[in-house]
Amino acid sequence: DKAGYKHFMAKEIAQQPTVLAEALGAYLKGDEIVLPSPGLDFTEVDRLVLVACGTAYYACLTAKYWFEKLARIPVEVDIASEFRYREPPVTKGTVALFVSQSGETADTLAALRYCAGRADRIASVVNVETSTIARESDLALPIHAGVEVGVASTKAFTCQLNVLLLLAIKAAEARGRMAAAEKSELLAQLRALPGLFNAALDRDGAIAEAARKISEARDVLFLGRGMMYPLALEGALKLKEISYIHAEAYASGELKHGPIALIDKSVPVIVMAPRDGLFDKTVSNMQEVMARGGKVCLISDARGIEEAGDGIWQSIPLPDVDERLAPLLYALPAQLLAYHAAIAKGTDVDQPRNLAKSVTVE
Ligand code: F6R
Repeated sequence: DKAGYKHFMAKEIAQQPTVLAEALGAYLKGDEIVLPSPGLDFTEVDRLVLVACGTAYYACLTAKYWFEKLARIPVEVDIASEFRYREPPVTKGTVALFVSQSGETADTLAALRYCAGRADRIASVVNVETSTIARESDLALPIHAGVEVGVASTKAFTCQLNVLLLLAIKAAEARGRMAAAEKSELLAQLRALPGLFNAALDRDGAIAEAARKISEARDVLFLGRGMMYPLALEGALKLKEISYIHAEAYASGELKHGPIALIDKSVPVIVMAPRDGLFDKTVSNMQEVMARGGKVCLISDARGIEEAGDGIWQSIPLPDVDERLAPLLYALPAQLLAYHAAIAKGTDVDQPRNLAKSVTVE
């Protein structure tokens, strides 16, 4: 049931503040992060291997920043269909973590089975708790997103990020990398995030307007730096999937190594850039784009938009957010841009052509 929304995707996007708050409730006892049994002892982990497909893979790419930055654990991230056939060495001290909404994705399951008996522990982050991937894991972590019907993953992505961040915080704490006060402060920010999501949902009108203009383009570029790079990849995937507009994502710093050749007035460039420590670098990338006649759509906070100066084609203002949590909040405009672009193009939002919700074939 669409609960009054035109599409499941719209409903599921709007549900994010609620399901994220519920998921936090399920994992937090005060400031203690409680994992389902048998838990995970991060003091003994030398290396994490994160494996998934599609949007879940982008959640893993984001989590790499968290695990490395907060917990100083070396992390390898791979696409399941590449990982499994490469037969990489999986050494002692490795925890292999598989992220899957459905828990039935064939390549992710095959990668899990490859790691079973090789890695110290098999963990998974799943939405369907009765799924094969959950059952074959030593430790299955539910994301508590509720049933996701729209083929394009939305709330499952942010709920995956939420659990992966909690895991990274737990790892940081266990490894003596995060003091109690810092953890408490970060968890407080995380608890405030559903409120920021609601404020960002109020910007739907501005996002829809930008999306209508973007929907006229044949090709779109997404740029992001640091944790915003995986988000740019996710934004491009969403747009391709449901509006059929060709979109590509690059790490902002890669622009001058090739893709800048594509820039002209017909290619909108969507820049995801909260005002974080890397913002100035991204501003100079935007200037390079604008100097070549490129049209920049900037997604940032009010100060970021102000500091970016004149010449921005479209801007989407989001509430200020702790930079460590920005990937969760910035997923929302990425989803809504794709949604409204699809509406403008008249495509089938919930059932895009050629796609299935669960990919159980190789
Ligand atoms: C994109 C999307 C897909 C899935 C991918 C993995 O919107 O939904 O890219 O993320 O097929 O599916 P799961 O998470 O079920 O393993």
